[in-house]
Amino acid sequence: MNRPQPAAASPHAVSKASVIDTLAVMKDVVIPTLAKGPLIRRRKVVGLAERAGMDDRAVRRMQALRKKYGPGPLVLAIPVRAQAVILSAHDAQIVLAGSPEPFAAASLEKQAALNHFQPGSALASHGAPRASRRRLNEATLETGCPMHSMAAHFAAIAQEEMDEVAATALAQGRLDWDGFFTGWYRMVRRIVLGEAAREDHALTDLLEALRRRGNLAFLRRKDRAGRDAFLARLKAYLDDPDPQSLAGQMARACTDPGQLPHHQLPQYLFAFDPGGMASFRTLALLSVHPETEAAVRAEAAAAEGPAPRLELLRACFLESLRLWPTTPAILRETTVDVQWGEGMVPKNTQLLIFAPFLHRDDELLEAAHRFDPRLWEKGNERPELGLVPFSHGPVICPAVNFVPAVATHAMRALMSRLSLRLNQPERLPTDRLPGTLDPYTLDFTARPLAAG
Ligand code: HEM
Repeated sequence: MNRPQPAAASPHAVSKASVIDTLAVMKDVVIPTLAKGPLIRRRKVVGLAERAGMDDRAVRRMQALRKKYGPGPLVLAIPVRAQAVILSAHDAQIVLAGSPEPFAAASLEKQAALNHFQPGSALASHGAPRASRRRLNEATLETGCPMHSMAAHFAAIAQEEMDEVAATALAQGRLDWDGFFTGWYRMVRRIVLGEAAREDHALTDLLEALRRRGNLAFLRRKDRAGRDAFLARLKAYLDDPDPQSLAGQMARACTDPGQLPHHQLPQYLFAFDPGGMASFRTLALLSVHPETEAAVRAEAAAAEGPAPRLELLRACFLESLRLWPTTPAILRETTVDVQWGEGMVPKNTQLLIFAPFLHRDDELLEAAHRFDPRLWEKGNERPELGLVPFSHGPVICPAVNFVPAVATHAMRALMSRLSLRLNQPERLPTDRLPGTLDPYTLDFTARPLAAG
């Protein structure tokens, strides 16, 4: 039996949920999260989730469980698979700080999903291979650095691609998701794989098809031929790398073929989807918070150098991720029986940290449903408050600094050309923001900046 190193005081007591409450968690929390699509979102379900207030209901369900059972981990009454939900920021911190041992990131379900297209990724690995692959990701993304050493080049790419998005938006008088995302993804392919990948839409399509399979994890047969073809294309980018790309940096940083760099890169491509969603939602938030928008514009106007740090815009981006976390389910699996206060969490229990609950817990967070960028003055994570959009601890997203930097440069570029007014601002009442915000149906009126 293993004792996790507690983040602070001792953990809360473990409880067991009744069958009725287990069914309620499945209905209100687990099934809606899976239905939205863990690896690639299903657009129709995301729209339905906003209209039906599914995330609000999930948060209320978790609050009710905490009221009934207390704030400790709640073991669900599922016969085939030991599962527990984490009900406090304090316990979430303990679990995340104690990863990958005794709380492994590579749970069975996660591996099954990721095996469809990146079986050798750090996230799907454990033990020594995981440690080595994690090092490669950190070296590529320069995890500990607020600004990447190639940031100036990447900011220039963001400016070029967003200029094109802005030109099209001005010609049409509007900016919608598809217009934004096409340019966003051109930017992503150039940053991740280099100039030659700008128009490699086929690669993105191939990944999309594999991610759709991944959404169903064990339930869908693997397309091994498709996966091999996809990974071979990535390997080709690594074999002849653009030195000014993340693939170039990864090829230089790779110290051992067992790090499988081509298995790491799919995550770089697919995980930029949420970066685009969070950016587009940030633009929507700014549109309904004109004072903050004015401050963001003033910050951008005063910024110097090719890749400045834009602290306020970064905080707004993180606030969008708090309000609508793009990794709602952070999963762990115990590798041994874990002593938990007076109780125990058995080996091979899957633990669910449900970020929307921690981020929108209005029984504990005063501004849970309002836009409050001041929450992010201190950095990109607030685990003590349960705010973990990029997770926390040794498995924290290695792009925790990289993504906000790219996103702020892209948003700044777009805002330097456009004045954007959200159509249907009633979807974002500022005193009570919705639990779900479907990014695919956000739509702005776009005007040249000077016209206001
Ligand atoms: C808004 C955008 C993003 C968010 C919110 C995000 C968040 C996360 C989260 C919550 C995890 C799981 C950590 C855990 O299980 O504790 C993760 C893992 C990871 N992310 Fe991100 N991510 C984003 C974008 C990216 C991008 C663009 C990249 C690469 C360029 C990236 C690379 C990774 C990698 C390699 C892992 C696996 C880490 C490991 O297993 O050690 N992420 N991310």
